[in-house]
Amino acid sequence: MCGIVGYIGNKQAYPILMKGLQRLEYRGYDSAGIALLDNAEMNVYKCKGKVIDLHNFAADKNKNGTIGIGHTRWATHGVPNDVNAHPHYSGSKNLVMIHNGIIENYGPLKEELKKRGHKFLSDTDTEVLIHLIEDIQEKEQVRVGEAVRIALNQVVGAYAIVILAKDNPNELIAAKKGSPMVIGIGADEFFIASDATPIVEYTKNVVYLEDEEIAFIERGKELKIKTIKNKAKTPYVQELELQLEALEKGGYDHFMLKEIYEQPRSIKDSMRGRLSSAEGVVNLGGITEYEQKFLNAKRIIFVACGTSWHAGLVGEYLFEDLARIPVEVEYASEFRYRNPIVYEDDVVIAISQSGETADTLAAIELAKSKGATIIGICNVVGSSIARATHAGSYTHAGPEIGVASTKAFTAQVTVLTLMALRIAYRKGTISASRFHELLSELEAIPAKVEKVLETNKSIQKIAEIYKDSSNALYLGRGYSFPVALEGALKLKEISYIHAEGYPAAEMKHGPIALIDEEMPVFVIATKGTSYEKVVSNIQEVKARKGKIIAIVTEGDTQVKEMADYTIEIPETDEILVPLVSVVPLQLLSYHIAVMRGCNVDQPRNLAKSVTVE
Ligand code: AGP
Repeated sequence: MCGIVGYIGNKQAYPILMKGLQRLEYRGYDSAGIALLDNAEMNVYKCKGKVIDLHNFAADKNKNGTIGIGHTRWATHGVPNDVNAHPHYSGSKNLVMIHNGIIENYGPLKEELKKRGHKFLSDTDTEVLIHLIEDIQEKEQVRVGEAVRIALNQVVGAYAIVILAKDNPNELIAAKKGSPMVIGIGADEFFIASDATPIVEYTKNVVYLEDEEIAFIERGKELKIKTIKNKAKTPYVQELELQLEALEKGGYDHFMLKEIYEQPRSIKDSMRGRLSSAEGVVNLGGITEYEQKFLNAKRIIFVACGTSWHAGLVGEYLFEDLARIPVEVEYASEFRYRNPIVYEDDVVIAISQSGETADTLAAIELAKSKGATIIGICNVVGSSIARATHAGSYTHAGPEIGVASTKAFTAQVTVLTLMALRIAYRKGTISASRFHELLSELEAIPAKVEKVLETNKSIQKIAEIYKDSSNALYLGRGYSFPVALEGALKLKEISYIHAEGYPAAEMKHGPIALIDEEMPVFVIATKGTSYEKVVSNIQEVKARKGKIIAIVTEGDTQVKEMADYTIEIPETDEILVPLVSVVPLQLLSYHIAVMRGCNVDQPRNLAKSVTVE
């Protein structure tokens, strides 16, 4: 996700825009840019890097103008560089636009515009949209606002856009669908932003634009809004209550909690444009060129660290179960030094939220030197790992600020599920009916995660009971074993309670000696092939006075009778349970850490990206 700002009024726009971008930098920070209109002179300054880099870049340039737009980028299409930074010009350079979102059908639109003579400078979907708007304006001989409306009826995807026309210094045009936008109404001035943080210090009166609405923001006039279907709407002006610091976290106390709650959207975004159960297709454009390598692969090797390694473990179950390809999951730090055997027909998949983890990068280079095909699953576009791989799929989870990885994990597992399904279908190792059944079930996951989030208060109560534990055990079988590991990692890294994840059956081979009435045992005991076996494991724990907190499928009664506490999650296919069952464990660790007074977003001794060995 990116940060967008706009200003029109009686003050100099530059300082307002730059301060606004700084407040939005948590939304994306790989490149930034602004456009200012000083009478008839349009000045666009943009560069790779952070907002401070943009400020330094513009230091000796003309920064006059009482109207302007600004953007801080989280790349989705096109690597972070000066050319791909926003704002983007239209073909004639009369229009400039900033955009937050993903235009899914930008490819065909771009091809059509090229046929009509349009030349593009960047790799972005944004530039295609502003060219389309101008193309319509010229063809239909309409004002920019009407051209925007017509264009948005042709667009598939999410957008929050602001457009400035060189020949009209008295109007900004804004529109949104699927990405947030707030308009601040001041005295003879208007502010536009992705959220209220850049606005709240100037005015408390805001309008939250609704999906498929266009705002016509004219100097000295009332705000005008209409839908892309040309229906006039009365602006609903609200008064902001939240304080600035809270706003940056979207009203949440911590980035980690915000990111846990973003998962219905981030899982949806990781599927956006890639999955259609109606058409029965999975499209992963980033790996199409290397799909044959997957189909011929004798082995897949995952290399990753931490939470990303846990996602890789889910990937092992997915690819072996669905695509019948042998898989190994390697800690990158071990792989890089143990002189591993790597064959040229191996496919190595590197998983990394930051795309900068040193051990994972080194593992990639080693595997590449042995001739393997390297596929990346990263969250940061243009990151070192993304650039070091032959191909890959971005997770599109948006910036993950909290050190404890949450939405990145579920986005990684979503992308791995899509990959495994696509390869399994191509290899014919799953039936068409099973394929379609899983596509529909995958599409339903965001809503199921939403339902789990509604149980937050009851999870908080359980956290209260176990917040003073010294140790904890997490148990799971099958697809839930990696989730047990992930739940244990979450707890230990933010609450500093020692926790271990184990395959439930392995408990008998040692850890059962740890069980006593002081030991909380978190068990993922959802309906599935190993349910009865997990029930037996629970009985073994109970027999030793252990405390059981079980994640169960909605309506479960059997485990409910045995466990000290149960957390119900909506039923889903066994292979998709990790996407849902991890959420209660994220919330549990979050609440326990908060109750213990820990620094949840920046836990001691940890960094968000481990760029050193
Ligand atoms: C997970 O909560 C931790 N922050 C850590 O284990 C992290 O997953 C690991 O360092 C890998 O980071 P990456 O995904 O950016 O490569």
